[in-house]
Amino acid sequence: MIMSSRRHFLTAAIAAPAVLRGASTRSWVEVEKILSSSNVKGRLAKDEVPTPALMLDLDLFEANVKRMVTHARENNRALRPHGKTHKCPEIAKYIIKQGAVGACGAKLSEAEVFAAHGVRGLLVTTAVLGKHKIERAVRLASTAPDTIFCVDNAQNAQDLNDAAASAKRKLWVAIDLCVSGRTGIMPGAAAVALGEQIANLPNLQFKGIQAYAGGASHTKGWENRQKASLAAMTPAIETRAELNKRGINTAWLSGGSTGTYNIDSNIDGITELQPGSFMFMDTDYNVIGGKGTGDHYGDFGNALTILATVVSRPTDAHVIIDSGYKAMATDRSFAPVPKEPGIKFGFNGDEHGKITSTAGALKLQTGDRIEIIAPHCDPTVNLYDRIYCTRGQQVEAVWSIAARGMSQ
Ligand SMILES: Cc1ncc(COP(=O)(O)O)c(C=O)c1O
Repeated sequence: MIMSSRRHFLTAAIAAPAVLRGASTRSWVEVEKILSSSNVKGRLAKDEVPTPALMLDLDLFEANVKRMVTHARENNRALRPHGKTHKCPEIAKYIIKQGAVGACGAKLSEAEVFAAHGVRGLLVTTAVLGKHKIERAVRLASTAPDTIFCVDNAQNAQDLNDAAASAKRKLWVAIDLCVSGRTGIMPGAAAVALGEQIANLPNLQFKGIQAYAGGASHTKGWENRQKASLAAMTPAIETRAELNKRGINTAWLSGGSTGTYNIDSNIDGITELQPGSFMFMDTDYNVIGGKGTGDHYGDFGNALTILATVVSRPTDAHVIIDSGYKAMATDRSFAPVPKEPGIKFGFNGDEHGKITSTAGALKLQTGDRIEIIAPHCDPTVNLYDRIYCTRGQQVEAVWSIAARGMSQ
C-alpha cells in the first residue's frame, strides 16, 4: 500500500513538468553562497529567488527616479524623497546621486540607519520627543550635522535646544506645520510665534517649514487634487511670508507627494518636494487619476512586486500561491493586482493567496511563479529584509532594507 502510493506520487511528479518550470540547475547551497556575497550580478536568475520575495524592476525604478529628478530640476525645486517608502540606504544613495539633496526619514531610528550607512541631507519628518530620543537626535547630528528635525511646540523646541547646548552643538530645526489634519502646529500666529522662539534659541538653527498635505496626495482626479493641495498649502505659504516679514529667514518650505508633485512645483513658495511612492508606484496610487489621463494615474511605472509561487491546484478553477497577509500590505479595500493579465488575486489567509482566471481556463500549475504589484508600497516594504533588484530575468543586486521595522 505504501509502495503503491509512493509509486503514484513519483509518477505524478514525473508527469507534471510544470512543477519543474523555472527550476534552477544550481543547488540551493550554491544559490545561498551567491546571495551571501556582495556581488550577485550575472550570477543569479529571478527563478532562483525563494518566494515570497520583494522584487524591484530596475528599468522601471530608474525611469521613475529620472522623471521625478528631472521634474524637480526643471521646476527649480529641491528634491528630498521620503525614505519611509524604501527604508533602504542603497536606494537613498542612488537617488541622491541622481540629483536629490538628501532623504527624509519618518522617524528618528530610520534616519539613524540612513546616517550610519552614509546618507546625508536627512530630514526627520516626525517630531523627536522625550529625553532619550532627544539625546539620540543630538548624537545623530554629530554624525550627520546637516540633519533637520521637525518641531511643533515650544517645549520641544526648548528641550532640543537644551540638549544641544549640553553637547555644545547646534541643531537644524524646522516647524512642522499642520496642513492636513495630522501632526504639526496650526498655520498663522501660533506657527509664527514658534518660529520666533526657534530663531531666538542659541543652539537651534531655524531652517524653515515642513508642510506635508497627506490629505491632498490621494485626492481623486487631478483637478480636485490641485484644488486640495492649493487649499492645504496656501496657509503654509502665508505663514512663511509672515515669518520673512518679521525678519526670520524662512527660505525653505518642504512638502509635496507623489500625487501632488506636479501641482506643488507650480505653487510659489514651496521650495522642496518630498515625495516617496513615485519610485515604486503602487496600485493605490494608480487609481487617483492623472493630469489629462483620466482615472488612471500612470506618471510612474509599477516597479515593486511580490514574487510568488503556485503551491497547490486544488481545482481546475483556482490555484493557491504562497503569498498572503504576511507578504503584502493589507490596509487597502481593493484586491492586490497580479502583473500577469487574465488572473485575479484574493487573500486566502496569512501565508496564502487564491488565484482565479478572469478570462478562460486557468493555465497556472504548481511550481509556476507570478508577480503581484504592491498594493501599498510603504507597509509592503516593511515586511521584507531584502529587495531583489532585477533587470529582465536576471537579479542584478540584492539590497538590504536596513531600516525595516525602524518605526521608533
Ligand atoms: C511627511 C511625509 N512626507 C512625504 C510623504 C510621501 O508621500 P507619497 O508616498 O505619497 O509620495 C509622506 C508619506 O506618507 C509623509 O508622511
